[in-house]
Amino acid sequence: MQYLRAFLVLLIILLQPKTSLSVTCSSQSLPGNKLYEHCTDLTNLNSFLHWSYNSSSSSLRIAFVAPPAKPDGWIAWAVNPVEPKMVGSQALIAYKQADGLMTVKTFNVSSYSGRSIAPSKIAFDVPEMEADYTDGVMRIYATIVLPKNTRPVLNQVWQVGSSVSTNGIPGVHAFKDDNLKSMGTLDLMEGGGSQRIIRTSSASKGANSRFIMRNFHGILNAVSWGFLYPLGIFIARYMRVFPSLEKAWFNLHIACQLLAFVIGVFGGGATGIILGSQSQGIQHNDHRNIGIVLFIFATLQILFAVFLRPEKDHKYRVYWNFFHHGVGYMIAVLGILNVFKGLDILDPERKWRVAYIAVLGVLGGIALVLEAITWVFVLKRKSNNSTKPSNGDNGV
Ligand SMILES: *[C@@H]1O[C@H](CO)[C@@H](O)[C@H](O)[C@H]1NC(C)=O
Ligand SMILES: *[C@@H]1O[C@H](CO)[C@@H](O)[C@H](O)[C@H]1NC(C)=O
Repeated sequence: MQYLRAFLVLLIILLQPKTSLSVTCSSQSLPGNKLYEHCTDLTNLNSFLHWSYNSSSSSLRIAFVAPPAKPDGWIAWAVNPVEPKMVGSQALIAYKQADGLMTVKTFNVSSYSGRSIAPSKIAFDVPEMEADYTDGVMRIYATIVLPKNTRPVLNQVWQVGSSVSTNGIPGVHAFKDDNLKSMGTLDLMEGGGSQRIIRTSSASKGANSRFIMRNFHGILNAVSWGFLYPLGIFIARYMRVFPSLEKAWFNLHIACQLLAFVIGVFGGGATGIILGSQSQGIQHNDHRNIGIVLFIFATLQILFAVFLRPEKDHKYRVYWNFFHHGVGYMIAVLGILNVFKGLDILDPERKWRVAYIAVLGVLGGIALVLEAITWVFVLKRKSNNSTKPSNGDNGV
């Protein structure tokens, strides 16, 4: 029993999410000696919320502290009366104006579309608000008067962005893990233990599974359209030149393209459709349209290859070849292009983009060498054939 108790205590200590973070929070001092009763470490985007709540006047005084994504960017903190997510947020957004002074404005964020975001009235009275910007962090100071019967557990959402348009509209934020998880609850009665934030809330789980699915989608499509598919073209183009590989190239080519198609459509495409249907408001039109075109062409390509391929010496075979090669190269180009579009959206750590470019570089290098070898082979065969009686079959 004692051991069990000791074990439980140890477990609790280990599971306490980084108590050192609260040191960061409390060791922070705000300019102008502004004082708040509580400080909550917001766990994402290096942000902090200092706050005091006066329940008899139901007024919440906050100081939200966060580094903007870029010096000309913005920071935002919001209460969402409905649920912990961006749409519906009653937001305070701070940024540097054209004249260089900091400002903070209220925004009723009614959709995910950046176009419809503009300063507006919000559901709460905000009798005081100001902002400052020193040492790389912006701070929003505000007093918010909550409706009298407000539930003591608020949904809070916070965010940082990298740009603001000249007319004071904040630009779209990034879509990294941190940007998607920056939401949680704030328990006004509890006194702001940092552990209460986000880690256990369902919003975080939703954001988390979405994040995993985005990565899954990216990897499946990069592997299928971005790698296997071009590899299959390589195999067809370069292996067939070697007479000893005559049978092997054909089977490998088919295997590669079918595998690319199955992974691309059933894995990558399906996750793409789910992600697209979940992201209300934010639309990545180019990425989606290229994906649809890819799917249509790849399906046509397979149908034509499997069911409508004329015999080698058929008089229409040359047209079929033209179609098959043309569509094939187009799919490869669109596939790679869409991998890059996806990388722009997902915005992963730099190393992923670099790794993908390196893989393409290696493939390209190998292609150059093989292209040269192919030409040597073809020219050799031509000169052999021109001295011997032609057998009328020149393969490619
Ligand atoms: C809370 O608000 C009430 C009513 O406005 C006020 O009388 C009181 O002094 C406030 N308490 C604190 C600690 O500010
Ligand atoms: C915020 O926008 C929503 C949707 O457009 C609207 O229903 C709501 O009344 C607005 N809230 C305020 C305080 O203007």
